[in-house]
Amino acid sequence: MQATLAILPGDGVGPEVTAAAVAVLEAVARRGGHKISMAEHLIGGAAIDATGDPLPTATREACLAADAVLLGAVGGPKWSDPDARVRPEQGLLGLRAALGVYANLRPLRVHPRLASRSPLKDERLKGVDFVVVRELTGGAYFGAKTRTHDAATDECRYSVREIERVLRRAFELARTRGRRVTSVDKANVLETSRLWRSTAIRVANEFPDVRLEHQLVDSMAMLLLTQPSRYDVIVTENLFGDILTDEAAALAGSLGLLPSASLGDGHGGLYEPIHGSAPDIAGQGVANPLGTIASAAMLLRHALKLEDEARAVEAAVEHVVEHGPWTRDIGGDAGTDAVRDAVIDVLELGAVGTPAFLAGVRACG
Ligand code: NAD
Ligand code: IPM
Ligand code: MN
Repeated sequence: MQATLAILPGDGVGPEVTAAAVAVLEAVARRGGHKISMAEHLIGGAAIDATGDPLPTATREACLAADAVLLGAVGGPKWSDPDARVRPEQGLLGLRAALGVYANLRPLRVHPRLASRSPLKDERLKGVDFVVVRELTGGAYFGAKTRTHDAATDECRYSVREIERVLRRAFELARTRGRRVTSVDKANVLETSRLWRSTAIRVANEFPDVRLEHQLVDSMAMLLLTQPSRYDVIVTENLFGDILTDEAAALAGSLGLLPSASLGDGHGGLYEPIHGSAPDIAGQGVANPLGTIASAAMLLRHALKLEDEARAVEAAVEHVVEHGPWTRDIGGDAGTDAVRDAVIDVLELGAVGTPAFLAGVRACG
């Protein structure tokens, strides 16, 4: 197998966690005899500093030409002046739009070893295993914006086509899991949410084997903490999905653990942890790389169709979560590199990757 990946380290801890995931991908390639070529490109604050543009043309073109894109994180205090003309986050949003990656899959499982890291009681965390499908290229993020000296607006706009395609992804995903979809909206107030809900009801007719329920986003925020094991696939609009997934990360024990895959039609996709540039710990070598490594596993699965390799990486991540070493955010004192090396050691020991081992491991998303 031959593939070209665009690697976008970005800002803050982005380069630290991306380097760890790249090392894991190199180990996977070595073991499987695959030729995966990876080249780094500028994005975010680093790109603003170098070129003035958070998404330089060279980066955009390399990403469009690549089989998939792996990204660390963008942003940080240096570029966060609310009156700044240009922001790192615009680079990421521009890239998501350019790649057309409208469906952002954010799987979450709670590992029993980390249940004590969550602020929730252990019994509430048993069996938690859901995927949030977040619409990623529409809504208030991409609507018209205005700003005068004393007022501002962000237009939230959704078309039926935009809603349908992400809902279909969610239903298709549910077919491979528990056959339940929870569609989250604010249909009691927002017109876009009423369009979302009636579209969801119509799309559900195409999937009679999948059960659809609706939940208002405010009560969903509460239910995620009180009954998280009830959910299978949760599908929602861009802004709601952003907020609910950071909330959900508290269930898993750390934001640093959560991966994501952003998928569209006709491109291999964009893979990134859900966390940001973590300015408070950047440069110290202590960031948890497991969310980015798990994102690389999703890349192997969705973009490169290397299912066995994806599962082997996920199994190695699980092994490290189970036995350590752990970074500070989950209660250990290991550095990013030690965790990276442990994942690679488990991969190379070959205990994982054998059919017997894989049979016991479920794909996560
Ligand atoms: P953040 O996700 O960067 O950090 C929130 C908290 O989680 C911090 O305490 C941080 O130390 C911790 N954390 C995050 N990732 C971790 C990891 N891998 N290991 C250990 N701890 C980790 O959120 P924030 O502080 O609100 O945002 C900082 C910047 O990141 C902002 O500029 C924001 O726009 C940007 N951001 C970027 C992305 C992205 O690039 N996809 C995502 C979210 C936020
Ligand atoms: C995320 C981030 C981004 C978002 C920001 C950095 C634009 O919070 O990937 O979750 O809001 O989508
Ligand atoms: Mn976010």
